Amino acid sequence: MKVICTEKSQILATQLAKVLKTTIVDVKFSRFPDGEQFLEAGALDDETIIVGSVVDSDSLVQLVLLIDACEGSEKRLVLPYMAYARQDKKFRTGEPVSARAIARILSQGVADVTTVNIHDEGVLGHFTVPARNISLARDLGAWIRSLDLENPLILAPDDGALAFAEDVGSFGSWDCDHLEKTRLSGDKVTMSPKKLSAANRPVVIVDDIISTGGTIATATGMLYQQEATDVFAVCVHGVFAGGAYVRLLSGGIRDVVCSNTIERGCSKISAADQIARSLRIC
Ligand code: R5P
Repeated sequence: MKVICTEKSQILATQLAKVLKTTIVDVKFSRFPDGEQFLEAGALDDETIIVGSVVDSDSLVQLVLLIDACEGSEKRLVLPYMAYARQDKKFRTGEPVSARAIARILSQGVADVTTVNIHDEGVLGHFTVPARNISLARDLGAWIRSLDLENPLILAPDDGALAFAEDVGSFGSWDCDHLEKTRLSGDKVTMSPKKLSAANRPVVIVDDIISTGGTIATATGMLYQQEATDVFAVCVHGVFAGGAYVRLLSGGIRDVVCSNTIERGCSKISAADQIARSLRIC
């Protein structure tokens, strides 16, 4: 068995190969003069673990090409981040179910698929091969523990994200709650924890994805007004659209950390151990 990866998942794939005690296949990535992508994979084994986050259109095409290049080997796909997964329903006639479209494309030629904290597990049903999802809740919990905070409050940005925040919080038996918005007037909204107080304690906001970071940025200011001593944010997938990371840090948040499902400078949590465990079991 060998590991192979797209350009966007080099660090995670290298760590995964190390945990699996195997080697990583060298791939030469290039482009034709017209901009089309090309690649040449080195020598494969009987079984190949293909690791490739889809973060944009280019990474999707590269992953499709890589799967095809691994022809002849038993291929298992690890999809650490799946862009388009959040459009998982047709809200109006004429719209695509984007998650279904991407899942169908990536099912071609692979034996199975492993995702990491996919936005909605219902998306797994769109793959046409067996697909399973793993969670980094424990790993996020371990990062929070490394901060050595006194009596932290783990906060989900909304009630839909509470179950994940509780999974993370159970690692340290920490208090958990979710943010609730209260409309004060036509244009004024306040945000505070629904049941618990943030006063005189550190708060860690936990989410599966930070995209624009809009909710977290607004919440941070309000949590400081409510006398939280520190505010941190941790997520699995650090999308940070439109300069969100900079905006969050300049808004006073103490630190923002994500996993390496999307490889960032602030990827302080690795998905490699959980992925390896899942691949060994199945
Ligand atoms: C929403 O359902 C997700 O769990 C995240 O909370 C959301 O995608 C984050 O988006 P943003 O960072 O743009 O507020």
